[in-house]
Amino acid sequence: MSTTSSPMASGSTSKSNDPLRLIDVDRVQFYVGNAKQAAYFYAQAFGFEIEQISDLTTGERQSANYLLTQGNIRFLLTTGLTPDHPAQKEVGLYGDGIKDIAFTVEDSVAAYEQALRNGAQSAYEPVETTDEQGTVVMSGIKTFGRVIHSFVSRTDQYALECVKDRGTFMPKFSQVGDLAINEYNRQNPTGLFYVDHCVGNVELGKMNTWVQWYEDVLGFKLFKHFDDKDISTEYSALMSKVMDSGRELIKIPINEPAAGKKKSQIEEYLDWHDNTPGIQHLALLTKDELNTVGQLRRRGVDFLEIPESYYNIVWDRVGEIREDIDDVKDLKILVDRDDKGYLLQIFTKPLQDRPTLFFEIICRRGSESFGKGNFKALFESLELEQERRGNL
Ligand code: FE2
Repeated sequence: MSTTSSPMASGSTSKSNDPLRLIDVDRVQFYVGNAKQAAYFYAQAFGFEIEQISDLTTGERQSANYLLTQGNIRFLLTTGLTPDHPAQKEVGLYGDGIKDIAFTVEDSVAAYEQALRNGAQSAYEPVETTDEQGTVVMSGIKTFGRVIHSFVSRTDQYALECVKDRGTFMPKFSQVGDLAINEYNRQNPTGLFYVDHCVGNVELGKMNTWVQWYEDVLGFKLFKHFDDKDISTEYSALMSKVMDSGRELIKIPINEPAAGKKKSQIEEYLDWHDNTPGIQHLALLTKDELNTVGQLRRRGVDFLEIPESYYNIVWDRVGEIREDIDDVKDLKILVDRDDKGYLLQIFTKPLQDRPTLFFEIICRRGSESFGKGNFKALFESLELEQERRGNL
């Protein structure tokens, strides 16, 4: 099999009127200390299939990469194999976390050039990788802190539709084959299928800068705005604006700390993230919150605790829901309602030893919001955790 990889000259023509029309979330790439072990964690705890691998055995000598899939969610877990690989350096600074929210586009070069014209800084220039199955072109721009957005365009058997149908992800990837954990997950699905939103934490005073950046560079629109009156407890507060990519694709809320009596969760994150902005949480969609959370609890996922008293008042606020309310309470799921419907949500504890990245498991029954009615209960729970860590 021949594989070529080369930097691309500019000047490629766009096939679409808007080169920044985002087709899908191509993958969420994590930089981790040990991708082999992380792959088993996300497979075992959250039901992902360990589908493909790119490492020494497939001709990749710089990094080991595991493609984990579930529904339309693609995680790429990357570990550097050499001391100076960027993933190794960043793991040293930030611990395990998310590096890249990559978007599939029609023409990576055109998207990249348009983003630069719109004011973005380059993360890396377009690179084309080709073999007999097709071509993948990737380029990247820097967003807040250590995070980048790659633009990925795909042809022939590397088209995203083929990848979704278990086609090879990119050159130098191959199928992992049968693993017992994959078989277990097929028989015990957790039901996660989509990345609903991805939240960034930025420094005090920088939220509006990044809101403007998403408007100017990627053409996102402001979807919702929460201030410290919405999101505060006696001790800590934050402000948040939600940026919407349109087309029912990912939303990106941006958080900044607000003044409180004690350290906000955003400050704690930044303290343990080399004072560098990054992704705070990824919200994964399910169509059946009770089944998904039941599965995840049986698999040992550690969720934030919610006081019993939460359920004494929540039903007055939320009204009737389709789910069994005793099950909701037993599983400690949070519920909220807006003018369009309701949602169910729950938050994991940090997924690595540093108090940085965590997941939200969310089910929308019409609601398009983010659980504003739960912020106070949630933040009180988060503060208890901060206190346990000696970080409040
Ligand atoms: Fe969220």
